[in-house]
Amino acid sequence: MARRIVITSGKGGVGKTTVTANLGAALAAMDLKVVLLDLDLGLNNLDVVTGIDNRIVYDIIDVIEGRCRLKQALVQDTRYPRLHIMPSAHSYDRSHINGQNVRAVCDRLSESFDYILLDCPAGIDVGFHRSVAAAGEALVVTTPHLSAIRDADKVLSILRGYALQSVEVIVNRARGDLMLNYESLDVEDIANLLKIFPLAVIPDDDGAAAMSAFGGTADRDSEAYAAFRILAQNLHHGTKLFYDCTERYRGFLGRLKRNLRKRV
Ligand SMILES: Nc1ncnc2c1ncn2[C@@H]1O[C@H](COP(=O)(O)OP(=O)(O)OP(=O)(O)O)[C@@H](O)[C@H]1O
Ligand SMILES: [Mg+2]
Repeated sequence: MARRIVITSGKGGVGKTTVTANLGAALAAMDLKVVLLDLDLGLNNLDVVTGIDNRIVYDIIDVIEGRCRLKQALVQDTRYPRLHIMPSAHSYDRSHINGQNVRAVCDRLSESFDYILLDCPAGIDVGFHRSVAAAGEALVVTTPHLSAIRDADKVLSILRGYALQSVEVIVNRARGDLMLNYESLDVEDIANLLKIFPLAVIPDDDGAAAMSAFGGTADRDSEAYAAFRILAQNLHHGTKLFYDCTERYRGFLGRLKRNLRKRV
């Protein structure tokens, strides 16, 4: 039986799709069978981020409406053979796809995978509820910005109305240099505001941004890759490892790096 985890946020553009793709890759690198479901129907971009957009034949709507078999809609990742992606439709009247339809797809996928990661659309309307209804657990993504944290808080309270086994927070795009300079909320501040300590902190990493822009997950030497590996460990083994994004900005050399980054 697969763990079904929805990646959500409330606020748009905070990194749900990036987290879904990179967490999926990190779990697959641990030899786990993972499928990513793009539930951002109509505004999808998980296919671009994972670089499978030119290999799509069928999508999740074709599966739900019986135009293809489940396996025909799955696209295998080229770098991680245990990672599969079920794309969403580019344009579609999404109104008659509901949580039950998505849950039925997950039930069928559950037999062949260890993890089903659901990439949720922004907002808290029908697309959000459709995604959460099919999940057993949730990861709420926020950035260290107050507007994102406020939306994450709202989402956390809505999620309490669902019978989820666990709800965790991920802080994405964390800037260790700004945190040390008191120019950004730090992890402790965010934990106090949300009353939950984050499961993972993912650094703001140009490498991760470039990879997702051109199709592909964070490269293996990047800071973001190390942080996603820790997230995958924590999620799968229940550990409480912590990626300290301030570490490289501490000490004499760190202070230099901090000031250099400020000037760029
Ligand atoms: N850790 C990171 N470091 C640098 N850039 C990042 C990071 N995470 C995400 N980004 C960038 O932020 C932008 C938004 O990311 P993404 O598309 O994953 O957000 P989203 O929450 O899925 O957006 P939407 O709400 O529109 O679905 C992208 O350009 C992505 O490359
Ligand atoms: Mg997205």
